[in-house]
Amino acid sequence: MSEKPWDGRFAERTDTSVEAFTASIQTDKRLYPYDIEGSVAHCRMLAKVGVITDDEAGTLVEGLWRIKRELDQGQFQFDDSLEDIHMHIEARLLQEVGKVAQKLHTARSRNDQVALDTRMFLRDATRRIIDGLHTLRATLVAMAEKHIDVILPGYTHLQRAQPVLLAHHLLAYYEMFSRDADRFSDSLKRTDVMPLGAAALAGTTYPIDRHYTAELLHFRDVAANSMDAVADRDFILEFLSAASICMVHFSRLSEELVIWSSSEFRFIELADAFSTGSSIMPQKKNPDIPELIRGKTGRVFGDLMALLTLMKSLPLAYNRDMQEDKPPLFDAVDTLQGCLDITIKMLPTIRIKHDTMRLAASEGFLNATDMADYLVGQGVAFRSAHAIVGQCVAYALAQGKELHQLSLPELNGFSKVIQQDLFDHLTLERMIARRQSYGGTATDNVQSAIETAKKQLSGEGADS
Ligand code: ARG
Repeated sequence: MSEKPWDGRFAERTDTSVEAFTASIQTDKRLYPYDIEGSVAHCRMLAKVGVITDDEAGTLVEGLWRIKRELDQGQFQFDDSLEDIHMHIEARLLQEVGKVAQKLHTARSRNDQVALDTRMFLRDATRRIIDGLHTLRATLVAMAEKHIDVILPGYTHLQRAQPVLLAHHLLAYYEMFSRDADRFSDSLKRTDVMPLGAAALAGTTYPIDRHYTAELLHFRDVAANSMDAVADRDFILEFLSAASICMVHFSRLSEELVIWSSSEFRFIELADAFSTGSSIMPQKKNPDIPELIRGKTGRVFGDLMALLTLMKSLPLAYNRDMQEDKPPLFDAVDTLQGCLDITIKMLPTIRIKHDTMRLAASEGFLNATDMADYLVGQGVAFRSAHAIVGQCVAYALAQGKELHQLSLPELNGFSKVIQQDLFDHLTLERMIARRQSYGGTATDNVQSAIETAKKQLSGEGADS
């Protein structure tokens, strides 16, 4: 009598080191809810087309649900000799319902079964990530709204450039995470395709109804080619690509939080509950969460690279190499979900230090461009205006002053067209208010961007 579902042709027992080496159960056991749901749908389909009787299907389905409960309650015994989650459940079903269990695997192979489970897992995971991104985006919009009057320096080359609203800066991340959510929704369309019935690779001789299975499992579509259905993992690659890009965005936000919370910047203070201390330096309060998110970005890139490398040049159709797709997939899903959850909790607890931000925006000649624009308004060509303001900056630097701290006679030494109204022109509020070009930082623009974002968010909420 065979011990393994596949060892009929084998004269020798599998070496235990081979069992340990080939087993994936410790990784793929988390697919069990999908494996069972998929098997239940498969049974119903087999009964519908008359390959098994309704009674047999009933027995199998009840047995499968009992096994599901056992797994849910953590009472299930795992064993390397049964390789993977598919064989564990099938073997357990044999103990549970007897010989009829041997009919479950009719018109099916583990090759299409694992593709099915993985797609169902990723479909759920992607939806959860899109939901998490929705909450994160709503959090950013709420912060933007709360701090609508806060001004800070905008940077290029990490050098102070021009003043911007903090709300504008936060909404830049809203845009990035919105595109991430779009990318995940798009990849979801291609994940949501039902592979079962491809069998090992060529399809099956039984009169199965794959569309019925797809309907039972709420799939959008059915894989059109049996070889493609078992051989490709591009849906995971797409997810990992979208996850990598999303992590780039997380890493940039995190980097800014690290910089902003430093003593050099003091733009924000992280809540005690979301910081950690040092075991040697009593004064330290460290931004470990954003630092770790930055670090975890590398893991997700690694996951993408691992699967690209794994899939490269594999001949059709299924190859055992592909069992190695699950560790990077699970790692990326867990890492991204973890980053999302903690960021959503951490962001609202950040204390914004308005005064330091404002002071930083008032020092360092952030109004130089606006002074040049003023001169242009007085009829000076932009290039000459640029040169005049450059001379004023050099002069002011030597005096240890800002442009707006120079006197009118001093300024007139550089250009006669400068009048008293220049000083109003150079205030932070005026500088912000003037940037009304579409997508610019003017408060009115930012306020309507907040409204647009809120509409988008509530529209998406209604859809899902
Ligand atoms: N554990 C395998 C995997 O994850 C399932 C499919 C195995 N198929 C096979 N013919 N050995 O890919």
